[in-house]
Amino acid sequence: TALVVAIDGPSGTGKSTISRRIAAEFGLAYLDTGAMYRAAAWWCVREGIDLADTAAVAAQVRELPLQIGTDPREPSFAVGGEDVSVVIRSTEISTMVSAVATNLDVRAQLQDRQRAAIAAEQRPDGFSGGRGIVAEGRDITTVVAPDAQVRILLLADEAARLARRAKELHGTADSAALEATRDQVVRRDAEDSTVSNFTTAADGVLTVDTSTMTLEESVDTVRGIVTR
Ligand code: CDP
Repeated sequence: TALVVAIDGPSGTGKSTISRRIAAEFGLAYLDTGAMYRAAAWWCVREGIDLADTAAVAAQVRELPLQIGTDPREPSFAVGGEDVSVVIRSTEISTMVSAVATNLDVRAQLQDRQRAAIAAEQRPDGFSGGRGIVAEGRDITTVVAPDAQVRILLLADEAARLARRAKELHGTADSAALEATRDQVVRRDAEDSTVSNFTTAADGVLTVDTSTMTLEESVDTVRGIVTR
């Protein structure tokens, strides 16, 4: 039977990088569910929807023509044929994605699409040839794929998460970079945690604290959990 690996955690824990590495190593598909919320936010903004109008946002997302590329070596997202993989990572989208992701109607819709993408990888005609998938986000271990054979919560203390994200976005973790990153990490996680629990492990979910680990050590730890 196809393997499903569910990985959750706040930003800056190494979640995306680790998930991609594990998926590539095991020949699995890779689903970045955060990118789906980002694509939904990008599309609503482009269509001029007021993000505070929850009904309008939900109706717009219902029509979202999202194409999901699950190759872990080159994950990609397109909306109506337009590749949005890069534009959805902008600071503008990072700043407003939580407004869309805390919309419960939107969550139900995207969770359904995520379950469909995971189910597609159980079939031989899926990207992985039916081998399975690594899906990562904030609510995969608890809501989207609670039956996954492997469920991991990645955690790291705030200072470590801030420093990693600052380096990623600004190439340095000096105090200016840390301040510029704070909103994206701390406020966004606080907002996100009003609708998902990704700070404590649910029953049966293994916690990996990456605060003092290098990326290689984190990948080694997760690999060890997947293969045991
Ligand atoms: O990389 P990082 O963890 O910072 O963010 P991301 O994975 O790109 O997710 C972007 C946003 O999508 C998060 O801040 C949440 O608002 C939302 N999200 C969510 O609500 N549920 C998920 N399963 C994944 C992401």
